[in-house]
Amino acid sequence: MSDLSITVNGMKFENPFVLGSGPPGTNGKVIARSYDLGWGGMVCKTFSLDASKVINTAPRYAKVRARGSEEVVGFQNIELISDRPYQDWLDDLRQLKKNYPNKILIASIMEEYRKEAWQQIVREVQETGVDGFEMNLSCPHGLPERKMGMAMGENPDIVEEVVGWVKQVARIPVWAKMTPNVGNPTVPAGAALRAGADGIAMINTILSVSGIDLKTLRPMPTVEGHSVPGGYSGQAVRPIALRQVMEVARANPGVSISGIGGIETGFDAAQFFLLGASTVQVCTGAMLRGYEIISELKEELSKFMTDHKFANLRDFIGKSLPYFTTHHDLVDRQKAARDAKEAARSKRNDVETWKGDIAKETSTLVTN
Ligand SMILES: Cc1cc2nc3c(=O)[nH]c(=O)nc-3n(C[C@H](O)[C@H](O)[C@H](O)COP(=O)(O)O)c2cc1C
Repeated sequence: MSDLSITVNGMKFENPFVLGSGPPGTNGKVIARSYDLGWGGMVCKTFSLDASKVINTAPRYAKVRARGSEEVVGFQNIELISDRPYQDWLDDLRQLKKNYPNKILIASIMEEYRKEAWQQIVREVQETGVDGFEMNLSCPHGLPERKMGMAMGENPDIVEEVVGWVKQVARIPVWAKMTPNVGNPTVPAGAALRAGADGIAMINTILSVSGIDLKTLRPMPTVEGHSVPGGYSGQAVRPIALRQVMEVARANPGVSISGIGGIETGFDAAQFFLLGASTVQVCTGAMLRGYEIISELKEELSKFMTDHKFANLRDFIGKSLPYFTTHHDLVDRQKAARDAKEAARSKRNDVETWKGDIAKETSTLVTN
């Protein structure tokens, strides 16, 4: 097995595979299980100071399958943040750090647009001993109605202000988790970094309508005959996540990025590293295939590294970034390659003609 360890913002991950915020990190018990199975880190389900305002619906998930197959390629959810009491979270986090001091534990937090609320949750949660924060500035459904989540993350001025509040009191690294539901992801990510964010986690889910039930004519997931657009995740979003990670990495060389979106294999993860991520997070993949996929993820990434003779992750982080350019440049490169080929061909023809001439001359000499 290759060396999969990496230190990011001072946090030592024994491997770069982190369970992303969501159902896989619902409480301390399941987080402990994921550590036992070998995950390098964990971002818990997002929580806030007042869980009483969080009321989930059932159903809240919908699956998109590949045509003619049972395989789930896309997954939509309208799940809110955690509805567990805040005190329970503080107890769980404290206990987890006591039992697993060497595993990375990141608290995902979200609050309303109030400085006192953000600073209170940061001050109290860091007392539990967690290693870092992930600010959820990106949940696309439900919370924006309360001006939380994506309602903050899509507005660079608010991102800068809120990350600034958090950085005033945080004594541990802070990642800002960004929404993909913006035209140019480098704008809000840049605002977070200007305000002092230590890293960027991306992407959260993509606002979506997963489908309409053709029997009932109702949108899915259907709750009392109705629905709302939800967050799309799973394999189908990976190309969008890769594009956004690439753009933020190119705009901010060396910045730590936790790559998220449709990662289900170690080979998927390798592509995020090649585009500048230094850790990766898995949410839907673990929900659909189980926490046990961690063994496969590690083996596959290790195989990729052995095949390319990479000794550690830093050897190839960002290695594919220089190969992105403009379309105009692609056209120029193609023309230059064609011209070079043409020049080589005409040189070859010259030599052939010359060889032919010599042969002719020689035979003439012999005949004479
Ligand atoms: C059911 C579900 C619940 C989620 N809850 C949260 C959450 O509480 N906080 C958060 O930051 N992201 C949440 N996410 C988003 C994931 O962490 C992740 O950013 C996104 O799903 C893309 O990654 P994936 O394709 O590996 O799932 C949730 C995703 C799903 C599918």
